[in-house]
Amino acid sequence: MMHIVTVVGARPQFIKVAAVSRVLRGTPGVRETLLHTEQHYDANLSDIFFDELEIPPPDYRLGIRSGSHGAQTGRMLEAIETVLLDEKPDWVLVYGDTNSTLAGAVAAAKLHIPVAHVEAGLRSFNRRMPEEINRILTDHCSDLLFAPTDAAVANLEREGVAAGRVHCVGDVMYDASVYFGGKAERTSVIREELDLEPQGYVLATIHRAENTDDSRRLRAIAAGLAAVARQLPVVLPLHPRTRAALQREGIYETYAASLRMIDPVGYLDMTMLEKSARLIVTDSGGVQKESFFHGVPCVTLRDETEWVELVEAGWNCLAPPGTSQAVAECILDALHTAPSAEERPSLYGGGRAAERIARFLRARA
Ligand code: UD1
Ligand code: UDP
Repeated sequence: MMHIVTVVGARPQFIKVAAVSRVLRGTPGVRETLLHTEQHYDANLSDIFFDELEIPPPDYRLGIRSGSHGAQTGRMLEAIETVLLDEKPDWVLVYGDTNSTLAGAVAAAKLHIPVAHVEAGLRSFNRRMPEEINRILTDHCSDLLFAPTDAAVANLEREGVAAGRVHCVGDVMYDASVYFGGKAERTSVIREELDLEPQGYVLATIHRAENTDDSRRLRAIAAGLAAVARQLPVVLPLHPRTRAALQREGIYETYAASLRMIDPVGYLDMTMLEKSARLIVTDSGGVQKESFFHGVPCVTLRDETEWVELVEAGWNCLAPPGTSQAVAECILDALHTAPSAEERPSLYGGGRAAERIARFLRARA
């Protein structure tokens, strides 16, 4: 029996693990133990996903919560190591690019436990992003690297990662979107609750440190979105980091009056908000791809993106949030130059990435 310890901790990882754990646990000869670092701990950033995406309850909850990068990652390393020493798994499986990813990979590698990394090979080439450091280090201590795209494979090749370790499997977030799309349609009533017309609003999410922790960029984004809101409602499910940043800047109340700020929502509600939006504006990695899955154009408020194929295909437009005018102009332009849904290329596999991952892991038993 192959024993895998999966390490997750932050919102996007719950969506990815929902797609993969279901398949792993249905694979004969595989046993999974799920470890939640609790990097994210608010119910609407954590437990809601376990409930609605039918993720098995974690076998371990580490209670790490928030802190500076060093403190948070260090506490995780120590606690994950203790679990790994007890469980002695054959593999440790990590996802994406958060501090939980890095801690899981390093704890395992130091104990000589093989590491598999889902969503390997993504690069922004901006080392000031904490995620970029996490990705590079995780990839380079992984034994199996599951890349979502050809661009990710090429990045790993350039960095000298042995080709035999890298498999292009597609994107597990696409799997999740295919698998849970119907449930979202059947169960979510968020549009009715918020009284939103289909294609009658812009959906926005902001949480990236480079935007929330830089006063000039945060103000440019808030004012730019408020300018757009004079034409079309802007719905903004607010990450706690962004709420705190707006409050710190003393501009929360001002923008609460013009933007439809709501608490973070669950995946099923988010899916429905995305599907019916006229345009999505975000700095999230996952939301950039989901807008494409649903055929909704996207403006990304960043200087660069890891998901370069979406920009090349014309579905995503990069808008560095230097000034409020730049933000508003890009968004208003995108509202009028949206590509048609028929032109969507197939970029992320056919919704079977998790099955490929399970097969490759099984073959290493
Ligand atoms: C983390 C990831 C980021 C990912 C994002 C997904 C790192 C370095 N960053 O960013 O890559 O895109 O998750 O959402 O791992 N907070 C709460 N309640 C919670 C969790 C956080 O209030 O349940 C607040 C705390 O004030 C905390 C802040 O949000 O200090 C930031 O949380 P943290 O997990 O450190 O990073 P994120 O910005 O969420
Ligand atoms: N998401 C959600 N509710 C929200 C905002 C985002 O369910 O209020 C989902 C979103 O649909 C996507 C994932 O969270 O599946 C993306 O996570 P996030 O933006 O936090 O992180 P990133 O992808 O940037 O690492």
